[in-house]
This record gives sequence, structure tokens and C-alpha cells, in this order.
Amino acid sequence: MSQDALKVAAAERALTFVEPGMSLGLGTGSTTAKFVEALGRKVAAGLDVTCVATSEATEAQARSLGIRMSTLEETPFLDLVIDGADEIDGNLRLIKGGGGALLREKIVATTSARMIVIADASKKVDTLGAFPLPLEVVSFGLTATQNMITALAGDVGCEGEIRLRLRPDGQPLLTDGGNLILDCHFGRIEEPEELDEALKLIPGVIENGLFLGIADLAIIAGDDGISIIGSEDDDFDE
Ligand code: A5P
Repeated sequence: MSQDALKVAAAERALTFVEPGMSLGLGTGSTTAKFVEALGRKVAAGLDVTCVATSEATEAQARSLGIRMSTLEETPFLDLVIDGADEIDGNLRLIKGGGGALLREKIVATTSARMIVIADASKKVDTLGAFPLPLEVVSFGLTATQNMITALAGDVGCEGEIRLRLRPDGQPLLTDGGNLILDCHFGRIEEPEELDEALKLIPGVIENGLFLGIADLAIIAGDDGISIIGSEDDDFDE
């Protein structure tokens, strides 16, 4: 199966968790886009849901499909968020932010009763970190912030190049919130919780792309079918 078809398979399984009347968070990225497409078809057929997007791109896609969109101000508690990931380990720990939307994604995920991650099998890893960890940072004091990241990440065994993410035209990429992204090429993150704690100490780092203890379920589509990490039977109110 093509990678695209695997993304569709994961997205369609996620749709079985959506119930009429739910408030939904919509993630960002190519896998979530498949989910939004499928959701749009259900909405056109009469499904009643209210959604909040994690990026301007997802907002535009969902609106174009006639999905009713809200904001977190109007709908500050969500039943379920569906989002992709750049890496998923066996303990449902994630790296996110490859699409630059990690801050809004984390805000939406943490105000949702449940988070379901959808991905093709290439995202499943034993140890996080081969995918460069994105950090959303403020532009003021960028070099000082970068130095602190090097020092504090080094203290917890994470070393590697830290690169400012650029757009194709060579200019710094700005997030939807107008901030910058630093991609940290650590290679392996043996203790994600320790790294997360360290990064939280740095004032210039607004948020990091480690999602720890946030996801409830991962739906991973591979050539041999769908595998699930987490329990499909968990109550939404837990
Ligand atoms: C967006 O910032 C990311 O967190 C995405 O969820 C992640 O990059 C997965 O994207 P794809 O589904 O395009 O691989």
C-alpha cells in the first residue's frame, strides 16, 4: 500500500471514534488532512460536530469542506482531538511539530478529553529523536536561547546540531503565532521526560514538540494492517 493509502486507512479508523454532537480538535499535517477529508464527507452526509483547528491550514481545509468551525475561546473544552505525529514510541510518547504547529497542537490536545494519534507505520520508533525535535521559540535573544538549549539538553545527554527552520525562500519560517522554530538534531532522546523538564526552564522556549502523557491512543497503519497502541475501550470521560 502507498503511504498515502496508509494515512487514509488510519484516518478512517479514527473516524469510528467520532460521535454526533462531539466537539473535536483537528490536528495539522498530511495525515490529519486525510481525516479532515473523511470527516467532511460525514458532515456532508449529516454528521453534527463542532471543530477547532490547530493551524490556519487545517482551518481553511475544514471550512472549505463545510465543517462547522469554532475557536478555543468559544469552545474551550473538547471531547477528542485527532492529530498526526512525527514519531511515536511504544509508550505513546510523541515528537510533533514537523509542520510547525506544535504550540497550538499542544494547547488543543491538553484541553481535549482524549487524543487519538493517526500515522503510517514509518512514524513508529523504539526511541524518540531520529526526527529532529522542534521547539517554538521567540526571536528575542535567539542566540542566548540556543546556547541555553545546548547546555541544558547536554546535561540530560542530548547533543546535536540546532537549526533555525527556514522557508524554501531561505527566510526564517514563522509559526501561525509569529514565532520561530528551532529543530534539534539530537539523534536519540533516551529520557524524554528529563529533556522536557530541562527545556521548560528556558524562558525563550515557548513550547517543545515532546508530547508526553498526552496521547491516549495511536492508530498506526502498516502493510500488514492497523495496529493500536493504548486501549480502544477507554471512556472519553476518564
Ligand atoms: C504538525 O506540526 C505536526 O505535529 C504533524 O502532526 C506531524 O508533523 C505529522 O505530519 P504528517 O501527518 O504530515 O506526517
